[in-house]
Amino acid sequence: MRYAEVYESWQQDPERFWLTAAQSIDWDHAPSRTLDATRAPLYDWFADGQVNGCWNAVDRHVAAGHGERVAIIHDSPITGTVTKITYAELQHKVTRLAGALSARGVVKGDRVVIYMPMVPEALVGMLACARIGAVHSVVFGGFAAHELAVRIDDARPKAVLAASCGIEPGRVVHYKPLLDSAIEQATHKPDICLIFQREQERAPLIPGRDEDWEEASAAAEPVDCLPVEGNHPAYILYTSGTTGAPKGVVRPTGGHLVALDWTMTNIYDVAPGDVFWAASDVGWVVGHSYICYAPLIHGCTTVVFEGKPVGTPDPGTFWRVIADHGVKVLFTAPTAFRAIKREDPAGEYLKAHDISSLKTLFLAGERADPDTVRWAETLLQVPVIDHWWQTETGYTIVGNPMGIEPLPVKTGSPTVPMPGYEVHILDDGGHEVPAGTLGAVAIKLPLPPGTVSTLWNAEDRFVKSYLSTFPGYYETGDAGMMDEDGYLYIMARTDDVINVAGHRLSTGGMEEVLADHPDVAECAVIGAADALKGQVPVGFVCLTKGVDRPHDDITRECVARVRDQIGPVAAFKCCVVVDRLPKTRSGKILRATMARLADGEGFKMPATIDDPAILDEIKTALQTLGLAAAKS
Ligand code: COA
Ligand code: AMP
Repeated sequence: MRYAEVYESWQQDPERFWLTAAQSIDWDHAPSRTLDATRAPLYDWFADGQVNGCWNAVDRHVAAGHGERVAIIHDSPITGTVTKITYAELQHKVTRLAGALSARGVVKGDRVVIYMPMVPEALVGMLACARIGAVHSVVFGGFAAHELAVRIDDARPKAVLAASCGIEPGRVVHYKPLLDSAIEQATHKPDICLIFQREQERAPLIPGRDEDWEEASAAAEPVDCLPVEGNHPAYILYTSGTTGAPKGVVRPTGGHLVALDWTMTNIYDVAPGDVFWAASDVGWVVGHSYICYAPLIHGCTTVVFEGKPVGTPDPGTFWRVIADHGVKVLFTAPTAFRAIKREDPAGEYLKAHDISSLKTLFLAGERADPDTVRWAETLLQVPVIDHWWQTETGYTIVGNPMGIEPLPVKTGSPTVPMPGYEVHILDDGGHEVPAGTLGAVAIKLPLPPGTVSTLWNAEDRFVKSYLSTFPGYYETGDAGMMDEDGYLYIMARTDDVINVAGHRLSTGGMEEVLADHPDVAECAVIGAADALKGQVPVGFVCLTKGVDRPHDDITRECVARVRDQIGPVAAFKCCVVVDRLPKTRSGKILRATMARLADGEGFKMPATIDDPAILDEIKTALQTLGLAAAKS
């Protein structure tokens, strides 16, 4: 079947479409029905089925005789090691860790926070939780203790799984002290922390709370997979919204297994045994879906890469990994390719490697700029496929289904909606706009299986954030347009979320940190265009009356505070003192206008601006930061 036929078959009978897809998953009790709409606009998929995520990702492959197939390749140029783990070995590790968690009282529905670098044990931890029906919540290692504490207080975990350390170029990230500090800051205290001690650093354990991961696993009895309901939460993944309070995206188990497996065949065009590499981090949704679950559910080999596209040791690392492990599909963020292109524009480092195993490069996480896409196409001589999705959906909304029918690529567009998604471009009043017109990108409800079912502990916030602006639709928070051929173009966010090196960050969260500085009366953070990272945050602070300390000291403290409170991943390095912020007459800060100034883009003077002269002051401030020669 061709794409149009597959999409139409879904449109005609979505339930039958997903029930057919569900056959690729092993159910303990097959679901009798797919969609439960009784709580609309909240929906449940496969609610009366019984299933286990770990069985589908691990045990079933061993049971089918593929125990000797490599499940995980840990390639770590940063520590100079490569380790391979077969499905049988993975099963052994997971059953023991699950046993250790069970023995310590972790039961179905309990939350387990995972704070780990890119080591296979991060996946073992996730799968051990899935095995016993515990709900994991992985926190990205680049977040500071405070952010971890916020997540601990929201998820209220019974246990924490953490590593002693992570390794970033030139420095060891001391995870254990960060964890200790987070638990100290949090109101909720987990009962137990299992610490994976890495060779590079052994962390002191706190008696009565901390235990050694390996010792606890070695002493544990293996446990079997516990079937859970199709709508049982597999995990909570916190993502950035408009405010500093992260949103806990809840992923229902059954739909997530079904949909991810479907994408492996139909979008990524991979088969069991193929080597799939998502060069991201387990702390992000790409890591959940395409480092851990999807490749393993599908019986592929997944690459867990602990390194950077450049500097570990050089811009040829990606090509070396592809050649060494026979990678068929590489999935990463455009920023990784921009980093490689900047250091090796002529692709000299590729010459030393045979990357003929590579069939497709997939890009997501941020806008794929045409320059980078063309550079990658020319260098690699394989299709370069942009696809658009979000933490909330967990997999592609709009993409190019390489396993069904490779569609013509239009650079700048992630191509067309996948089955499951009816995408509309709406104006402020919720009316469809004509082709080629910019509007809010919305998806007709219900969303397909495996997408966010609610926000953890915050159903009202879920409805308010996503389902209220356009009744009957899910609001994506992105603005874009569709052309006459139904190709989508994502242009910008409609909220204050920014995208830094493919990482989704809240400017509101950074503003909360700056506002807390005793000398700061008022502040604004915007995203400014950056040639490597796509965007970087820029902070503007107005000082409290009477403060006469050197401005450099204050801005340095502001930068340090954001690093300390949110983490290095915020990449907050630009901050400037200004007398006033541009506002509307009703007092709303004109962040979008400031961002256009920073990017040197033309803009229309907002009709509601209180005092246009302030924009000149902002322009001067931006110039002192080396940003913007804006034209108004
Ligand atoms: N633990 C601790 N610190 C981390 C971290 C982690 N897991 N990941 C990143 N950091 C730190 C970095 O060391 C850096 O610290 P610094 O300010 O001391 O230099 C800071 O957070 C910013 O990191 P990053 O934005 O990644 O910048 P970078 O300069 O280290 O690397 C790229 C830039 C483009 C090479 C890098 O972002 C990259 O490889 N991106 C690939 C795309 C990707 O993974 N996207 C995720 C979603 S798909
Ligand atoms: P995250 O939830 O971290 O995956 O971030 C999702 C957001 O990243 C989306 O809402 C978009 O703003 C942006 N994004 C992701 N993929 C793409 C893409 N292919 N093109 C443009 N923007 C993207």
